[in-house]
Parts: sequence; C-alpha cells; structure tokens
Amino acid sequence: MANSMSRLPLILGIETSCDETSAAVLEGDERILSNLVLSQAPVHRIYGGVVPELASREHLRAIVPIVREALATAGKSLAELDLIAVTQGPGLAGALLVGLTYAKSLSWAAGKPLIGVNHLEGHIQAVLLEQRRHGRPEPEWPAVALVVSGGHTMLYLVEPRGAGYHYLPLGRTRDDAAGEAYDKVAKLLALSYPGGPIIDRLACFGREDAIPFPRVRLKTRAGGESELDFSFSGLKTAVLRYVQTHADLQEQITIRRQKMSGHDHPGWEAWRDACSQHTLDLLASFQASVVHELASKALRACELRGARSLLVSGGVAANCRLRRSLEEAVGPACYAPALELCTDNAAMIAAAAYPHFLAGERLPLDARAFAVWPL
Ligand code: KG4
Ligand code: ZN
Repeated sequence: MANSMSRLPLILGIETSCDETSAAVLEGDERILSNLVLSQAPVHRIYGGVVPELASREHLRAIVPIVREALATAGKSLAELDLIAVTQGPGLAGALLVGLTYAKSLSWAAGKPLIGVNHLEGHIQAVLLEQRRHGRPEPEWPAVALVVSGGHTMLYLVEPRGAGYHYLPLGRTRDDAAGEAYDKVAKLLALSYPGGPIIDRLACFGREDAIPFPRVRLKTRAGGESELDFSFSGLKTAVLRYVQTHADLQEQITIRRQKMSGHDHPGWEAWRDACSQHTLDLLASFQASVVHELASKALRACELRGARSLLVSGGVAANCRLRRSLEEAVGPACYAPALELCTDNAAMIAAAAYPHFLAGERLPLDARAFAVWPL
C-alpha cells in the first residue's frame, strides 16, 4: 500500500472543468513538484466568455502534452505514480469529459488507482495546500470557506472529519457568480476577458464612492435562511443602466473597442489609458459593491457559526481589494492561497484527492462526469 510507504504517495492531478487545462504532480498533499496551467483565455476572449465547444476542443489538444510536461518537470515517470486525481465535476460537461476520459485511460493503462475530485473541494483544499507547502500549521477549526470563482459563489462551514474534511453549505449565489459579474461588466465596457484581473488592476485608479450602487436585499429562500446567500445580477443590471444613461461612457466604449482591437497583447497601462476617469470610477464603485457583498456575508457566516478561521479561494480570491478587506476584518485568521493556487489548477485537485485515497475511495472506470455536483 502506498500509504504505508515511508515516502509520501506521488499524485498526478488533472483539471479540465472550465477553460484551463492543468496537470500537476504532488507528493502527498504538501509538496508541489509541478503545476502547469494552460489558459484558453485567448481563444474565448473575442466572445467575452467561455464557449463550451471550444473549451472541449482546446482541452483535447492540450491534455496529452501538458500531462507529459507536468511529469517531466517533476522528474517523474508514469510508472512512479501512486494515484491519479481528476476533476469529476462540477463544470462544463464536455470539458470535464476530456480530463476524466484521459485520466481513466491512464489509470487503466498504467494500473494506477483513480480518484474523482469535486472542483469546489479542490478550491478549498488549495488554501490548506498553501499552508502545508510552506510548513505552516492548519487553520483553526471550524472554518468558514468562501469559494468565489467564475462559476461559483459559495459559503461552507469546514471541519476535519475522519481522514478528510466535512463541508456544510451555508450560503450560495441566487443568480450570477461573482467572477461572472466581473466578466460580464468587463464585456459591457469592452475590457479584456477574463474581466476580474483587469478590473482589479484598473479599479485602483477610480473612486469607490463615486457611484452609490444599491446594496443587495434578498427575499427569504423557500424553505431556508437567506441571510448568507449572495446576489450579483441586480448590481450587473445597475451597471448596465448607469452606462445606458451616460452618453460619455457609451462613447468611451466605442472608442476603446476601436483603439484596443489594434493591440495584440495590451498591458494594463494601455487599458488604463483607454479609460476615462468616469469609467475608472465606475469600475471602482462596481468592485466596492462586489467586495461588500462577499465580505459582509462571509463575516456574518463566521459570526453566526463561531468560526475560528476564514478560508478564501477561487479565481476571485486573487482580487486585491477583497483580500485586503477580509484581512483587515479577520486578521491572521484569514487564509487565502497564492495567486497561482486561487485560479483553476491541478495541484489543488491532487491535494484534495489525498484524504480520499487514504480513506480507500477509488473511482470505477464507468464513472460519469457531473456538470452539477454540490459539495
Ligand atoms: O476559479 P477560476 O479560475 O475558474 C472557475 O472555477 O470559474 O475563476 C475564474 C474567475 C473569472 O471569472 C475571473 O474573472 C475571476 O475568476 N478572477 C478575478 C481575478 N482573477 C480572476 N476576479 C476578480 N479579481 C481578480 N484579480
Ligand atoms: Zn474554479
């Protein structure tokens, strides 16, 4: 048995749930030997969002070379692996299938056990991986986890249980995910895709209190509490209305579209120069509203559940303003991974598989991918 060896099991992680093809090699759930991520953003950029068919096609192209490269970078061979971990859901069905089918083939051909991982668990485990890889202690339990990405905005209560962890859902978005709101606002304003990183960068140059967007008010969810649910569609519509009623912003969008279409790989400075102060103020005000919505609910969850730590992960956890806000409110009990472990990556999938492997779970070769798979 691999877990009775003196060395930690060698894990190959594979992630293809959305628009990043990623492969990683880890020792146990603590040492990253390689973690390669190939972003499809340039393919989807012209559409302002992920096109599922194109995502599957790009994963098909990338999966074999990226797995080979992850093994080569780690200096390991397929034969040396102890297990293969793959994202089984949630995500785009076709995209998931590419990773899952390839992982099954490798598992069968090389005779290695296979573990199917929930992508959301991967994002939460990224926080713990960050701690372990630096030899830092685990957060104190129970913890509230805010998972905030392009497809999800969730709050969980997390505690160790058995060899692994238990996740109790506390709140979720009723409509758009926070990252989706960033991406849609960026598309509306003719900024680049994905929208989060560029809005994050440009919002620093605007005034957060310039436009007082209304705060979210939710009706009680049928059969449940509403206090910890999120909503972003109202804010997205408010931004749209604001733009529609300000001719200067619309003019700016047209100019920006023309100006930036001539640039191959514009840096953030070029984007800033293509934005008026009014546009920058709009971005800062939008971001302040998103951060307020996320931070107020995460902090309320900690208060209600007596949490001793707050874990923040997912692509939007890369946001400087959100991290600053939560770190200021929670202090050292706020844990967020390094940027490369915030956005989709296979290292978090490999790390999340480890306790399942120790618990003896194995994925059968007829296992399906789950586009929807609550954690
Ligand atoms: O976790 P992730 O890589 O993929 C999903 O599972 O969805 O998250 C991608 C999302 C995108 O919507 C992107 O705009 C957003 O994360 N994002 C950010 C930042 N970096 C990425 N949002 C706000 N600020 C950022 N710095
Ligand atoms: Zn993700």
